[in-house]
Amino acid sequence: MNEPSDFRLKRMPLNHSAGLMPALGFGTLIPEAIATISATRDALEAGFRHFDCAERYRNERAVGEVLQAGLAAGGIARADLFVTTKLWNTNHRPERVQPAFEASLDRLGLNYLDLYLIHTPFAFQPGDEQDPRDHKGNILYDDGVTLLDTWRAMESLVDRGRCRAIGLSDINLNGLLPIYESARIKPAVVQVEAHPYLPETDLLGFCKERGVVFLAFAPLGHGIRPGPLEDPVISAIAARVGKTPAQVLLAWAVQRGTALLTTPRTAARARENLNVSALPEDAVHEINQIQTRQRFNEVVKTGSPGFIPQGR
Ligand SMILES: NC(=O)c1ccc[n+]([C@@H]2O[C@H](COP(=O)([O-])OP(=O)(O)OC[C@H]3O[C@@H](n4cnc5c(N)ncnc54)[C@H](OP(=O)(O)O)[C@@H]3O)[C@@H](O)[C@H]2O)c1
Repeated sequence: MNEPSDFRLKRMPLNHSAGLMPALGFGTLIPEAIATISATRDALEAGFRHFDCAERYRNERAVGEVLQAGLAAGGIARADLFVTTKLWNTNHRPERVQPAFEASLDRLGLNYLDLYLIHTPFAFQPGDEQDPRDHKGNILYDDGVTLLDTWRAMESLVDRGRCRAIGLSDINLNGLLPIYESARIKPAVVQVEAHPYLPETDLLGFCKERGVVFLAFAPLGHGIRPGPLEDPVISAIAARVGKTPAQVLLAWAVQRGTALLTTPRTAARARENLNVSALPEDAVHEINQIQTRQRFNEVVKTGSPGFIPQGR
């Protein structure tokens, strides 16, 4: 099948006939509700149809408001949207999975989800405190549940028909393999940090082999400077091909076979980040040769959120 060169049109098939995911996704990790509403509205108006949410972002209600308004205004049907949210670390115990899922759906104002992810492989002590810590400030983990126990409860959600696909986030290949092997319903998506400074080539190779969609977060290095947005290779390609550095990074992500999540916060950036099309092959090759290595988000090491301000 020929790849569309306008990546706005690109859809990635999910396993288990769970439908198609738009390759370009809008991420809602935005701390303030007002900013969440305006950025999500701008993204919807610009044409984003894939929205990545999480219980832990504490703004599902704000995102839901915008999606509901978009659906009510006409012109957009629920089937046109692809909505993901994530199970937080304090809800890994199987009996907590369905209630957490229902609570997210309720806040989003939806009656099904396109994708539900286990936010991180780390189980925290169950309860209402999302970041439980002891008096020394150490995270309180929960060793009374395994990731496979949680996965089985996720599979039940698919069986009940209100969630089309399930997957994992902030996991490495070693963590993914045993779940993949034991799963009755294989993970459809793996969401991890990826950009030219953290290409995650082994994980991407595995995902491609098994038909798992690799969904890159922080494709712009979370906007951190210095970072990929200011990399001299990226700037030179942007100047040469007449695109912005952000468009070059997003195109590279799609061309190497990943889907992506980006978080433009203004209408102009929403249009810019959706207006992504194929780079010449030599540009992709040059980006593949970048040797700088940097991870911007440490969540994968502890389960403690990296881009969310402390105490929120
Ligand atoms: N699973 C997880 O644990 C996890 C972790 C992190 C993120 N995520 C998901 O992934 C989404 C995307 O992550 P991200 O926010 O790191 O993505 P990103 O798109 O790499 O970074 C967003 C930042 O880049 C800058 N930016 C955006 N568009 C730009 C443009 N056109 N030109 C220049 N700078 C631009 C902005 O920073 P300035 O405002 O500073 O300019 C913005 O805050 C999140 O919203 C969330 O849904 C998941």
